[in-house]
Amino acid sequence: MTTRRLRAENPAAIADAAALLRAGALVAFPTETVYGLGADATDPSAVVRIYEAKERPRFNPLIAHLPDVAAARVQGLLDDPARRLAEAFWPGPLTLVVPRAPEGTVCDVARAGLDTVALRVPAHPVAHALLMAAERPIVAPSANRSGRVSPTAADHVLDDLDGRIAAVLDGGETRVGVESTIVACIDGTPRLLRPGGVPRAALEVVLGTPLAGSREDEGVRAPGMLASHYAPRARVRLDAAEIRDGEAALLFGGAEPEGLARAVATLNLSPRGDLAEAAARLFGALRRLDASGAATIAVAPIPGHELGEAIRDRLARAAAER
Ligand code: TXA
Ligand code: MG
Repeated sequence: MTTRRLRAENPAAIADAAALLRAGALVAFPTETVYGLGADATDPSAVVRIYEAKERPRFNPLIAHLPDVAAARVQGLLDDPARRLAEAFWPGPLTLVVPRAPEGTVCDVARAGLDTVALRVPAHPVAHALLMAAERPIVAPSANRSGRVSPTAADHVLDDLDGRIAAVLDGGETRVGVESTIVACIDGTPRLLRPGGVPRAALEVVLGTPLAGSREDEGVRAPGMLASHYAPRARVRLDAAEIRDGEAALLFGGAEPEGLARAVATLNLSPRGDLAEAAARLFGALRRLDASGAATIAVAPIPGHELGEAIRDRLARAAAER
């Protein structure tokens, strides 16, 4: 299969991409967080192609993307906290896991057989136009091979999936750079399943209470949150105070680890110490440092507040035992 690159600024691109999706093909598209690998959520054979192209385990359910809150409410049952979060953060980098609605059309394979559904209304003009044109929910995991670094540019998508998908809708680099925050609103207590583009503190302001974590006693609530994930080829060493021989350096703010001069390659996520800027650059930086050929990427300390929680989460998974 030859993967087409559709340039989003081309007037025909959205209609072409929507037609491919409606025909059951896979099309990657930009969202404000990362590029998603889209398929018709109502078509099980289209959804199965996502698992094959990504080599993703079948037990890991997908997020359904909708153009607006009204379309989301056809698919899922939003309780009071979910409604408040949706109103405050949609469109935006928030995913809500809620009980599926009886009239919902997101197919079983996409939900991995669960009676809940993950819903997201992305804030990206290209994603919105595509969802409007597709006229159905579109499931989209990040458009990378399973376990690899998420794509924040069309070239990253092609690095992983060229020849495996019908097209990539190229809308330039994504703005947020880390995936959506996932909150489960199922049993009356909202739970944070994955830190992401909406910081925890912003959610807690809207909810008026601290956000609970996922319920370990019920097993992994977001089945995709495996320890090792977002992994470059190189090993990743966190909170590095010094750079060792043969390492590449990933820095933040004014930090100057000892031995920096011997780094094989050096990138600073945000010299001015801005966590939003660092999040936007994170996955691209991991890809570039990986390409330097270094055996290990040493990462300087990054604070854990605001978008730092999502950054540290992704780096911890990149550093996990494989
Ligand atoms: O920003 C994002 O969320 C991107 C863009 C493309 O929208 N998408 C994304 O999808 O990150 P993915 O598939 O890489 O991550 C989805 C996560 C997985 O960890 C999955 O287990 C979890 O959402 N998830 C999906 N449905 C779920 C459900 N019903 N219950 C619990 N977790 C669910
Ligand atoms: Mg992913």
